Amino acid sequence: TRPLRVGIAGLGTVGASVIRILDRQNEAVAQRGGRPVEVVAISARDRTKDRGFDLSRFTWFDSPVELARAADLDCVVELVGGADGAALDTVRAALSLGKHVVTANKALLAKHGLELAKLAEEKGVSLAFEASVAGGIPIIKTLREALPANRISRLYGILNGTCNYILSRMELEGLTFAECLKDAQRLGYAEADPTFDVEGFDTAHKLAILTSLAFGTEIDAEAIYVEGISSITPLDLAMAKELGFRIKLLGVAERTKTGIEQRVHPTMVPRTSSIAQVMGVTNAVTIDADAVRELTLIGPGAGGDATASAVVADIADVAIGTVQPLFGSPTDRLEKAPRAPMQRH
Ligand code: NDP
Ligand code: HSE
Repeated sequence: TRPLRVGIAGLGTVGASVIRILDRQNEAVAQRGGRPVEVVAISARDRTKDRGFDLSRFTWFDSPVELARAADLDCVVELVGGADGAALDTVRAALSLGKHVVTANKALLAKHGLELAKLAEEKGVSLAFEASVAGGIPIIKTLREALPANRISRLYGILNGTCNYILSRMELEGLTFAECLKDAQRLGYAEADPTFDVEGFDTAHKLAILTSLAFGTEIDAEAIYVEGISSITPLDLAMAKELGFRIKLLGVAERTKTGIEQRVHPTMVPRTSSIAQVMGVTNAVTIDADAVRELTLIGPGAGGDATASAVVADIADVAIGTVQPLFGSPTDRLEKAPRAPMQRH
């Protein structure tokens, strides 16, 4: 069988892990995908950087857009990051040329998801993004494929590994915010610009994607009330503890009488609740729906291998050749949801 020819744009924390995992799991991925997956091209900024594998096996492109245009690729994996610029140009170029795209880029999808979904539909190709929300947790698959019997009323969770890691270590180890953030960066959890993590924007990007899938609505990141954790102090954490609570940065999307309410903010959760037990880089997403009642998925929310696990699953799906409607239904069937004003909680 003809292998799926893949180009990987971005060889940082996630991109390098994808290559290492494909190397060691090649047979299992080929079995799941029904044909071999062959990485033929790569791109990053610095060709001389040691990335833990031999670069000479691949065709190198200085520009990810040039990689996307290379004629002999079936699938472009975008792991560059950023809502615009090189990432957007790369994804647009690949889709326009009828190439499948796999991406982990929630900032890109939160801003341009609808336009890119339309382009993918028009060209009859996949735009897969399992890794864009909650790292290794298969939440996109769950929402898109596993719950058609359900009317979802609410979805909430811990969607940013960096923030949960910082809050956990500040509370349990008494470390400063700055020390914890530095470690999260060293471990590859944080965004290139960590403001996106700590000010809640990354959680908002992910929430916007989940809301669209859960409620069949057009993505609307601008409707989200956003507050991050940068002003949380050790005293806040100690006070919460004293009162029997823990502070978590939550993303919440809820169907209300007036529309969809979406919000991101630090929240006091009872220390005995299950969400309070979710510590470190772990994420958790709970879905409230009429048939399953309550469903919670918990797992690693960031980090190279955990995220690459979701990217590789998407690559295998592309190899099988099932093209899914991006946000659960074709774009012309997505509703424009009325924005509900945020209630006091
Ligand atoms: P990194 O910053 O570690 O890697 C980015 C890569 O893109 C680098 O290899 C860099 O090249 C390359 N790059 C950046 N800009 C350009 C450009 N203009 N032209 C060519 N190459 C460029 O990011 P991550 O791997 O952490 O993240 C990648 C994506 O995955 C982002 O969208 C992120 O939000 C998402 N993501 C990350 C997770 C994580 O845990 N890290 C989890 C889930 C999603 P060079 O190495 O030469 O500098
Ligand atoms: N910076 C993100 C986080 C990466 O910490 O959750 C995973 O999307």
